[in-house]
Amino acid sequence: MPPAIEMSGITKIFPGVVANDGVDLRVEQGEIHALLGENGAGKSTLMSILFGLYEADGGIIRIRGEDARIRNPNDAAALHIGMVHQHFRLIHNFTVTENIVLGREPRMPWGNLDLRSAEKRVGELSAIYGLSVNPKAKIENITVGMQQRVEILKILYRDADILIFDEPTAVLTPQETDELLLIFRRLKAEGKTIIFITHKLKEIKAAADRCTVLRRGKAVAAVDVAGAGEEELAQMMVGRPVSFHIDKKPAGPGDLVLRIENLTVESSGGHAAVRSLNLEVRAGEILGIAGVDGNGQGELVAALAGLLPVKEGRIFLRNRDITRESVRSRNEAGFGLVPEDRHRFGLVLDFRIDENFILKNFRSYPYSSSTGFLRFNDIASHAESLIEQFDIRSGRGGATVTRSMSGGNQQKVIIAREIDSSPALLVVSQPTRGLDVGAIEYIHRRIVEERDKGRAILLVSFELEEILGLCDRIAAISRGSIAGIVDAQDADERSIGAMMGS
Ligand SMILES: Nc1ncnc2c1ncn2[C@@H]1O[C@H](COP(=O)(O)OP(=O)(O)O)[C@@H](O)[C@H]1O
Ligand SMILES: [Mg+2]
Repeated sequence: MPPAIEMSGITKIFPGVVANDGVDLRVEQGEIHALLGENGAGKSTLMSILFGLYEADGGIIRIRGEDARIRNPNDAAALHIGMVHQHFRLIHNFTVTENIVLGREPRMPWGNLDLRSAEKRVGELSAIYGLSVNPKAKIENITVGMQQRVEILKILYRDADILIFDEPTAVLTPQETDELLLIFRRLKAEGKTIIFITHKLKEIKAAADRCTVLRRGKAVAAVDVAGAGEEELAQMMVGRPVSFHIDKKPAGPGDLVLRIENLTVESSGGHAAVRSLNLEVRAGEILGIAGVDGNGQGELVAALAGLLPVKEGRIFLRNRDITRESVRSRNEAGFGLVPEDRHRFGLVLDFRIDENFILKNFRSYPYSSSTGFLRFNDIASHAESLIEQFDIRSGRGGATVTRSMSGGNQQKVIIAREIDSSPALLVVSQPTRGLDVGAIEYIHRRIVEERDKGRAILLVSFELEEILGLCDRIAAISRGSIAGIVDAQDADERSIGAMMGS
């Protein structure tokens, strides 16, 4: 059998960047092939070329042994290539089936839309691949994990047999991720070829047969996954040895910094998302909140930050009741936040790095003079020092507009700003979501360093591995309440998972 895909010498140049530099990719039919690489390595670009969204500047593509010219997604579809994008393209007030048939509606002989037979076909496909999708459900009423399955059904409905997934697990919970990897296996068993992009080595080990590694636009390796260790894959990806082990001494907890008493918070939709929650965090410890997304983590963090009102209960920061204080006075009282949504709450994307660094303290000396003027020399030297300290890679130093930076470097800008303000309490929510191992390693190390300087750290993460590696104590959150708290050294994924589900 000829390979499903052979891409040879693929080059794609964007203004100022060689996104793909003579890349070779060979994927056998019926194989699960992982594409691994740091942010910006060129993975999405390569797949966009395969799917006809971009045209390569050089190189050739052969599909099932035949030369192919793929100028647009229709060409790709004709070759039975389908892609599940990072951001779904579903219409929210349409049903599953209506979304799937969009642009390919089956008609009755007299021309009316034949939704009934479409629903039947969608139901059959869902059953074959174990997707458990209800063909009649409205998109707005189903979870993100289910929406992704609708995207999968959409390309299966169009007879795709090469399926491309661009970072499919970035939006999923650990459970949903496991389920997706199972679905990959069923697709493979039915003869489909899968390419999936990820930077999570565990997922590659769990699901992929082969793996091609991209680094700075070049394919640096293609290996059998069974014979490659996680460390080896990580090293190929970043080009230097990476340590997974988070080095830390036992915690030396000190004074009580955060005390949450009987906290109840309503979500913006009006239901009690946090319910009578109690929690304490001490100086010099990292307390992790483990839980499936949507169990009140977001509302808890928003209430701590002063972004959502508290319905009942109290929040104390170093014995000061901050329950009803403004965001600014919380910051002054020693509250630091690395928010989950770094684009909406962490950065002003159209501001430069140096401007983002002083968002919270531009009013005070040395960034403003007593007469209210910004003091640009101090702002610039402050930015230079943080950029160096936090190893932030940016084209134009402090003058770089943050929108143009990679996710990992944007996150470093936020973390640098929050740590630089020396908060007594640092709340970090999903600090490494979507980042590559190099950036993750760095951010974890900084969090531990801050703990060792005596800060109290509250970490919210959906990644159990991160929680287990980083925290001193772990609290499982379930339906808005703390279901249990354990010392990290006594915990494992299974025991925490059981508490999360209780
Ligand atoms: N449409 C575009 N215009 C300009 N530069 C782009 C565009 N798409 C990607 N790039 C750049 O090409 C490089 C590779 O990007 P991408 O393929 O998205 O990487 P990955 O998916 O591996 O994170 C990056 O430096 C990125 O900034
Ligand atoms: Mg990408």
